Amino acid sequence: MNIETPIIIRHVWKYYGKFLANEDINMTVNKGELIALLGPNGAGKTTLVKQIYGELTPSKGEILVLGSKINNKVKKRIGVIPQECTPSGSLTVRDNIYFMAKIKGLDKEKAKKNTEEFLDKLNLRQYEKKMTRDLSGGLKRRVLLAMALVNDPKVVILDEPTTGLDPEARREVWELLAELKKEGKAMLLTTHYLDEAERLADRIYFLNRRIIMEGSPAEIKSKFTTYYEVIDYSSGKTYYVKEEEISQFLNGLKGKFEVRLPNLEEIYLKVMENA
Ligand SMILES: Nc1ncnc2c1ncn2[C@@H]1O[C@H](COP(=O)(O)OP(=O)(O)O)[C@@H](O)[C@H]1O
Ligand SMILES: [Mg+2]
Repeated sequence: MNIETPIIIRHVWKYYGKFLANEDINMTVNKGELIALLGPNGAGKTTLVKQIYGELTPSKGEILVLGSKINNKVKKRIGVIPQECTPSGSLTVRDNIYFMAKIKGLDKEKAKKNTEEFLDKLNLRQYEKKMTRDLSGGLKRRVLLAMALVNDPKVVILDEPTTGLDPEARREVWELLAELKKEGKAMLLTTHYLDEAERLADRIYFLNRRIIMEGSPAEIKSKFTTYYEVIDYSSGKTYYVKEEEISQFLNGLKGKFEVRLPNLEEIYLKVMENA
């Protein structure tokens, strides 16, 4: 962890009055890393990300974004899609993107240039003159992504970027996020979809008021693989076998068999149950 780390969260507590929404959160997002903040509704995900992009201030603790506490200068260097945010319906696709570029402090020339670039990059060219209210949900989300990216941010924060999208539109967003990661951006997304976290994230933080667990999808899985599920196809029976006994057990099987690890969904439910 150093000054170059795009997002550093240190011992952050957030109260709404007496209600504790975030308890002692420690977290980092590195360059080129996509972090998923995973947790059920009411877990405090939005509360936490709002403190990162400066809509809320921590009750205790500290957050550094691009090396400093959030301020107007830093705000112009990050890209955000707040939860349940929609583009302005009474503006065209192009104007939504262009005005966001201006809000982010780009000069006229640069704002125009980047608007063009992101219309193409997000395949919005054919809709550029359409009023945004006439677009499908998936297209609106694409416009929001273009708006979040138009200032070429180093840090991208997305609060439930795929909630409410159909499977096809979700996959489209996934592809784009994977591309952004390749470009070296630091990305933080919140989600309650496990498949999404597992597929996209380098690391996952399970949040339920406090951080319950942190690690790569593989690490999290391995922490919970004390048991394997073994399906013996010759007898049709299923066995649960302890890790230290698995090789011996498999040696004793004669026909075809399958061994599986618990999937992330099973782990998630287990973690949340015990939290
Ligand atoms: N402005 C607020 N005032 C009081 N309580 C709030 C406020 N915003 C959120 N909460 C509460 O804080 C908890 C966490 O909310 P939120 O951060 O939105 O969770 P998530 O995004 O994980 O669904 C919830 O219990 C919610 O009701
Ligand atoms: Mg939320």
